[in-house]
Amino acid sequence: MSDRKILVTSALPYANGPIHIGHLVEYIQTDIWVRFQKQRGNQCYFVCADDTHGTPIMLKADAEGITPEELIAKVEIEHLADFTDFGIVFDNYHSTHSEENKHFSALIYNRLKAAGHIHSAEISQAYDPVKEMFLPDRFIKGQCPKCKAPDQYGDSCEACGSTYSPNDLLNPVSVISGEKPVEKQSLHYFFNLADFTQMLKDWTTAGHLQPEVINKLSEWLESGLQKWDISRDAPYFGFEIPDAPGKYFYVWLDAPIGYMASFKNLCDKSGLDFDEFWAKDSDTELYHFIGKDIIYFHALFWPAMLSGADFRTPSAIFAHGFLTVNGEKMSKSRGTFIKARTYLDHLNPEYLRYYFAAKLSAGVDDIDLNFEDFAQRVNSDLVGKVVNIASRCSGFIKKRFSGTLSANCSEPQLFQEFIAANAQIADFYERREFGKAMREIMALADKANQYIDDKKPWIMAKQEGLESELHDVCSMGINLFRLLVVYLKPVIPVLASNAESFLNIDEQSWPTTVTPLLSHTINNFKPLMTRVETDKTDAVVAASKENLEKEPAPQSRKFDAIADTIEFEDFAKLDLRIAKIIKAEHVEGADKLLQLTVDIGDETRNIFAGIKSAYTPEDLEGKLTIVVANLKPRKMRFGLSEGMVLAAGPGGKDLWILSPDDGALAGMRVK
Ligand code: MSP
Ligand code: ZN
Repeated sequence: MSDRKILVTSALPYANGPIHIGHLVEYIQTDIWVRFQKQRGNQCYFVCADDTHGTPIMLKADAEGITPEELIAKVEIEHLADFTDFGIVFDNYHSTHSEENKHFSALIYNRLKAAGHIHSAEISQAYDPVKEMFLPDRFIKGQCPKCKAPDQYGDSCEACGSTYSPNDLLNPVSVISGEKPVEKQSLHYFFNLADFTQMLKDWTTAGHLQPEVINKLSEWLESGLQKWDISRDAPYFGFEIPDAPGKYFYVWLDAPIGYMASFKNLCDKSGLDFDEFWAKDSDTELYHFIGKDIIYFHALFWPAMLSGADFRTPSAIFAHGFLTVNGEKMSKSRGTFIKARTYLDHLNPEYLRYYFAAKLSAGVDDIDLNFEDFAQRVNSDLVGKVVNIASRCSGFIKKRFSGTLSANCSEPQLFQEFIAANAQIADFYERREFGKAMREIMALADKANQYIDDKKPWIMAKQEGLESELHDVCSMGINLFRLLVVYLKPVIPVLASNAESFLNIDEQSWPTTVTPLLSHTINNFKPLMTRVETDKTDAVVAASKENLEKEPAPQSRKFDAIADTIEFEDFAKLDLRIAKIIKAEHVEGADKLLQLTVDIGDETRNIFAGIKSAYTPEDLEGKLTIVVANLKPRKMRFGLSEGMVLAAGPGGKDLWILSPDDGALAGMRVK
């Protein structure tokens, strides 16, 4: 067996939110690959860390009234618990906010600077005069310069899809303070990516990347590489740049260095040799598993930084696609934005590990989770095909042969066929063609079941004189089951380990050569996996919708286009009432508003309504309107508004409320 030395990473999850099932595609994919390498006898280390720096984390801690350090400590515990419960086992899990990372970030920066790849320049940027900080694009909102949709982010418009710079935004406001940002100059530090154009042209075409990725990168390389802004001004949660007080490394500068830092932390604990893995002439293997959204950072910036700072570059970057649920982007309102913890509250994590394995390939295609398909896949493959073999055979072994397998391997050819399959299955695992590996294994499971169906041990058991044949057939079934489980071990380690206990065997390595279990005593069979029940998958979706209700509602509003569709449940939350306008008055200093006192049946409310263009106060008194009675009261410049009046029409003079014809309607619910 080869003895490769392999260092593997998954992308570092941001420390400002929980792990969700989208993330899990990546961590499960990596974990399966690492478990496979270890089962093969290779020296393989899987390191990861929380990605802890940057403005969103700083502001989130602010909002929670805790320090960023407290926030990231709390989140790291939650992340690790989620990973552990999904069977994702890291050799080391660290943090980008660590001494090791500070050290390597400074080291790499200093080396790049000494080699002339860093320069500084004044740039002008949006600044929040109230919060006294520069604003990342995502923290500025305003009207889209193209389609005029309100409430769009500083970098792109969700309504028309155009991208622009925050300067182009109409009526921009800071998301943090609500204030209009001002332009302010500041000195920034840049990494000259273009210095590495030739190096990257060579590296990206030298077998380190998937074909789809190479195509994307060559477009970027052809259109010319831009300098990369690697600094941010205080206040910023991150590492201060050496010799540049008040300037911090941009989070994406120190994030990939976090891979090194986590490994260094492991080396210091375990005595591994850091340089053996990271020195320029290293002959170990280094692989980064990432999602397709962060290819630019890993396939351009990262190799350039490493090579410019005299470290080795990655052996390969393995990008995967995005998870969709029922064919669509994960959505909070549809209950498909599923947190790892919500899933774990209801379902066995190994179902999801198997399902993802069955769907994963070496490419960057998106993969879809559909709960009907999920239940069907798991039930038919794992429960119906694999576990079923053991449950069909073990009863007879226990009852009729006191738990001991036959001394005879009755179908040596079939057994050999199962072993011979190991090369093909291993090749699929190695190339991350997990879907193909699962199909190969299930084809073997079909063969094992076919064998048992042909022999019909349940009939033999009722006939005289077939004792030893019954013993042979059931023992054969158990021996085939054992190999199936060994092949599935990287994917479903808990089931595999329980099966090893049932079979009374040691931890199984990859079965390149293995002999059948003969005259071997096994333990009592306990169900190794139960069927997926649809009420459990329904519960996951329902609980994910509940999570949403606990979060504040997003404030986005869109005009002039049909708004996003809502669920009936959303509509049902509205308490709409027919209200009688008892009193209507002008509002001092407001040119659009009227102040209304309305009777909604069981109480009167004060509401400010923007209908002055269409009605005088005299017109309104005594008339009916529809009111959203359960809208959260809003403090306005003129007083508290306790609801919203609905009116129809394009606006201006053409705006109508209900006519006053039937005063008896007042207070009625409109539904
Ligand atoms: N912090 C950065 C990575 C820094 S690596 C030096 C980051 N974090 S993340 O939390 O947003 O994402 C972590 C990983 O999960 C990324 O590889 C990302 O592509 C992946 N995924 C996040 N959502 C995903 C899906 N819906 N589907 C599949 N993978 C997804 O990016
Ligand atoms: Zn637009």
